[in-house]
Amino acid sequence: MNKIPYGVGVFFVALAAVVLVDQSAVASGAAGAESVTDRINHATEPYDSMRVSTAYELSVKTVQSKEQYQGGDFKVLARKDQISRFRCSVCHNDKPVLIQNGALFTHGDVKLNHGLGNNQLTCNECHSMGNRDFLVDKEGQKIDFDHSYQLCGKCHFRQKRDWLGGAHGKREAYWAGERVVRNCTSCHNPHSPAFATKMPATYSLPLDE
Ligand code: HEC
Ligand code: HEC
Ligand code: HEC
Ligand code: HEC
Repeated sequence: MNKIPYGVGVFFVALAAVVLVDQSAVASGAAGAESVTDRINHATEPYDSMRVSTAYELSVKTVQSKEQYQGGDFKVLARKDQISRFRCSVCHNDKPVLIQNGALFTHGDVKLNHGLGNNQLTCNECHSMGNRDFLVDKEGQKIDFDHSYQLCGKCHFRQKRDWLGGAHGKREAYWAGERVVRNCTSCHNPHSPAFATKMPATYSLPLDE
């Protein structure tokens, strides 16, 4: 029996074709899914989520975080385009206000409930009075509105640490691919950060049963 059975022959020809096509895809640097040979080569390597393509593209704006996660970069949801009155400098920064009760007319909707009892935070503990397009920390360091987690983390350092590690907050677009997480203000209103208490819905049998 020195003849290769027909089925096995076809198999080898097909395998050679797959490998050839594969190699040419690698050589031409084709983007997208990994080739079969890449997958075989990577099978025993440690898992790296960045090599797995993102399940779907986010349509919302993101920015590169100024912090690191497990030694690598990640992204957060941008905030500035969500803030209806940004840029603040349209009205602020050394422009005289000629109407009475200007703050009430423009920011009457901002109700502060952030702090301990009567010891509430004030506007200028978070907003830069010199340049209202920025937030500010206790040391007078300006903070971009897209990176408000840097401000919150000055006081809530435990929550920020948890958030960096992924135990507080939420990751967008599944676990594979680039890491994108929500900003603190994607969930918390900075002026009144507590969530309203929600009671569970209950059910009682109707009286006539
Ligand atoms: C449409 C004009 C307008 C825009 C836009 C605007 N402000 Fe104001 N803001 C005012 C006026 C008027 C006052 C009251 C006079 C003053 O303090 O300059 C005020 C007051 C304030 C105060 C002081 C409030 C107080 O009670 O002392 C803060 C803080 C503030 N603005 C923050 C912001 C921030 C942050 C933005 C951008 C997200 C912004 N403002 C955008 C008009 C505006
Ligand atoms: C704990 C910090 C903090 C305090 C205190 C604070 N702010 Fe803010 N404020 C923020 C942050 C952070 C944002 C951006 C929120 C976001 O990402 O949507 C913001 C947003 C705003 C905006 C834009 C909101 C919009 O949708 O247009 C205004 C106006 C504003 N603040 C005014 C004030 C005024 C007036 C006070 C005082 C009465 C005040 N803030 C107190 C942190 C603070
Ligand atoms: C200057 C310090 C300071 C900064 C900056 C600050 N907070 Fe707070 N925050 C406090 C204090 C004080 C309390 C009240 C004590 C507590 O509940 O731990 C509080 C309470 C809270 C609570 C708990 C509310 C409740 O009653 O359940 C949340 C949530 C919160 N802050 C979110 C934020 C977010 C989000 C930011 C950034 C936009 C921020 N904080 C910035 C000081 C700060
Ligand atoms: C995906 C939404 C989400 C994001 C993002 C988020 N939080 Fe929270 N946070 C929550 C929820 C939900 C609670 C629990 C509220 C409750 O128990 O009433 C909470 C609670 C808190 C509390 C109250 C104390 C505690 O630990 O229960 C603080 C303070 C706080 N968050 C700060 C932050 C800061 C700072 C950031 C950003 C670094 C952040 N959060 C990001 C949803 C979020």
